[in-house]
Amino acid sequence: MPCGYGAAPAIRERILTMSTTLDFDLRPSERRTPAAEREAVLADPGWGQYFTDHMVTIRYSAESGWHDARLEPYAPLAMDPASQVFHYAQELFEGLKAYRQADGSIVTFRPYMNAARMNRSARRMAMPEIPEQLFVDALEVLVRADRDWVPDTQGHSLYLRPFMIATTRALGVNRPAQEYLFVVIASPSGNYYSGGIKPVSVWLSRDYTRAAPGGTGEAKFGGNYAASFAGQAEAVEQGCDQVVWLDAVEHRWVEEVGSMNLMFVYGSGPDARLLTPALTGTLLPGITRDSMLRLAPDLGISAEEGKISIEEWQAGCESGQITEVFGCGTAAIISPVGHVKGTDRAWSIGDGEPGEVSMRLREELIGIQYGSRPDPYGWVHGIA
Ligand code: PLP
Ligand code: COI
Repeated sequence: MPCGYGAAPAIRERILTMSTTLDFDLRPSERRTPAAEREAVLADPGWGQYFTDHMVTIRYSAESGWHDARLEPYAPLAMDPASQVFHYAQELFEGLKAYRQADGSIVTFRPYMNAARMNRSARRMAMPEIPEQLFVDALEVLVRADRDWVPDTQGHSLYLRPFMIATTRALGVNRPAQEYLFVVIASPSGNYYSGGIKPVSVWLSRDYTRAAPGGTGEAKFGGNYAASFAGQAEAVEQGCDQVVWLDAVEHRWVEEVGSMNLMFVYGSGPDARLLTPALTGTLLPGITRDSMLRLAPDLGISAEEGKISIEEWQAGCESGQITEVFGCGTAAIISPVGHVKGTDRAWSIGDGEPGEVSMRLREELIGIQYGSRPDPYGWVHGIA
């Protein structure tokens, strides 16, 4: 079954929502970005550098539950320096995109899955779960207010970043915070690859691990990313673009690449099959990963979850059995891997161009997201 959520039929994604939601207090900005300035940003948004005019905030306390849901102007947060998030890093985030369709309407992709993942992360971090419908309503309220910020260039989108922080003012570390703030901000984003999709080089990190059994690897917890910067910096020092994370025990089982899940293509044409590392508890259960596992069989490419070591990866490429490897995630969609380097080994995959299977899966996924292909899975969620 693809992904830890089970191979749920599309309908489940819509029904499996806790019913609670709130009325949002709408306080729109009186000083919106002038249209000409906004259009200049949208012409070249880069990635994660510009933010829209509004944000959504919702508060939580152990006594009152979720309350005080607002749309308000995007602005710095005033926080007590003793807030627990600054000291004990109780922070979670999610990431998904809003896509403009040819008719001008706006959709998101599998937002209830992001909500469910945030709640799984929350359980691991002893933080409160947010009703799935409230999570999705928060996205909708923000995208409706900032709909002019959703780019209409194919490949561009509005990246939505929901996150939750512990705001309790206390330095005691014997219990989790009792108050939290959930926020959604939005950032117009361009194509991840400005010069077209080019295979990246990756570094097999043995000095650093991203996640250990029993740890926080399957949660989308900010601390996982803080701990990853040193490994990524090492990859860059080694002349590589991204770091490959190996298992923490034997340092040989492949887990993820940078902040993406990894896919291995064996064979080609009608014999092509896909393998991705299974969700052992130390990998992030990516929504793109899950979508690939569901799309591939419908394109005649069998797909399975399993285990692959660095030795098997190298031998598979050298024998020609492994024909393509790519990372996948919301931001980059797919990122082909062209070259692998470690302390004692190095090898190449393919001919320096993105592989056929990788590009087919990418086209199919983008087609569904931008509405140029049918969506038999019920993944697309109209938002504005
Ligand atoms: N793995 C990690 C560590 C990530 O941070 C991400 C992206 O957020 C992914 C995988 C891909 O997840 P998704 O496809 O849901 O974006
Ligand atoms: C993704 O969305 O694919 C990511 O890798 C998110 C990242 C910016 C943390």
